Amino acid sequence: DTVEWSPEETGKSGYDHFMLKEIHEQPRSLRQCLRERVSELGGTVDLDVDVAPDGVQFVACGTSYHAAFCGVSLFHEAGIPAQAFLASEYATSPPPVDGDLVVGVTQSGETADTLNALREAERRGAETLAVTNVVGSTVSRECDQTLYIRAGPEIGVAATKTFSSQVLALALLVLSQTGASRQDVAALRDLPGNVQQVLDESNAEEIAQAYHGSDAYFFIGRGLHYPVSLEGALKFKEISYEHAEGFAAGELKHGPLALVTENTPVFAAVTGDGELARKTIGNVKEVEARGAPVVVVTDGRNDAARYADHVLEVPTSDERTAAILANVQLQLVAYHAADLLDRSIDKPRNLAKSVTVE
Ligand code: G6P
Repeated sequence: DTVEWSPEETGKSGYDHFMLKEIHEQPRSLRQCLRERVSELGGTVDLDVDVAPDGVQFVACGTSYHAAFCGVSLFHEAGIPAQAFLASEYATSPPPVDGDLVVGVTQSGETADTLNALREAERRGAETLAVTNVVGSTVSRECDQTLYIRAGPEIGVAATKTFSSQVLALALLVLSQTGASRQDVAALRDLPGNVQQVLDESNAEEIAQAYHGSDAYFFIGRGLHYPVSLEGALKFKEISYEHAEGFAAGELKHGPLALVTENTPVFAAVTGDGELARKTIGNVKEVEARGAPVVVVTDGRNDAARYADHVLEVPTSDERTAAILANVQLQLVAYHAADLLDRSIDKPRNLAKSVTVE
């Protein structure tokens, strides 16, 4: 499974940091992930992977865990039971496998915790699938089958383009089980262009400036926007070293609301005009009433912007791909916040691109 990236492309090509370059590479890496996998007319998604799971267990760490968590929602929507486990916890207390397909999501394919969880699953008789970026990686050699995300080399320690490609690959995996409608195909086809629009028009830098020096940064969302909120917070803390937390919007009232002040901006991802958006807007009002500055990431199909101090816009799209678009905005906010603080963005302190110890 080859990816068309030349060695020169691993330079920074005029960007100040690899991370920013990789954020901007997303339209292309997403196109690579889709290439020759989806028939234009709909109907079939061909991934070169032969699975038909009754249930799925994901194991992953860090950003890959958040992508796997998105995968859970995507499988549930298709009526297939799925769970996501932090790989370190899976190995500590393995659940019954019971015919489930165990899917290891790992950019590098070398993360010790993820490899150990997969080995434990295999010992218990599970069929295993690797979802990875690196051809020939340990995970691809050890699992029964491999689905490549084809994001191309990622140098920045903070994962960006590989998250988007992992979520897209998992969406394709679901469609390979259910078949793809014309609407599904249109949503996939529009995704790279919509990401490009976010990149071209984002006001994330202005928002990073507006909230520079805050006490903490909170991220909330429901459904797919919940793992996106966790990922938004992880990106923010990894590279800015500021305190950032992601919460399920509905959990705010069960504790985290106590942390909210006028010096803790809350980023809320609210797309679409359905029940989830309505409920998240309720949560936005809760934090607004407590004086917190609110930034909403929205496609304008709801009235979330009315309760916000700032808006990060995303193009209107299918709810599945809206999560990827919202995440791109949060990647840019994290990047610019860290840049204002002059952090070592591509190599944050204490972190490594690939962690090969347990
Ligand atoms: C490290 C990196 C993270 C990454 C995690 C999992 O902690 O700093 O960015 O998400 O490992 O890596 P993997 O290669 O398994 O996706």
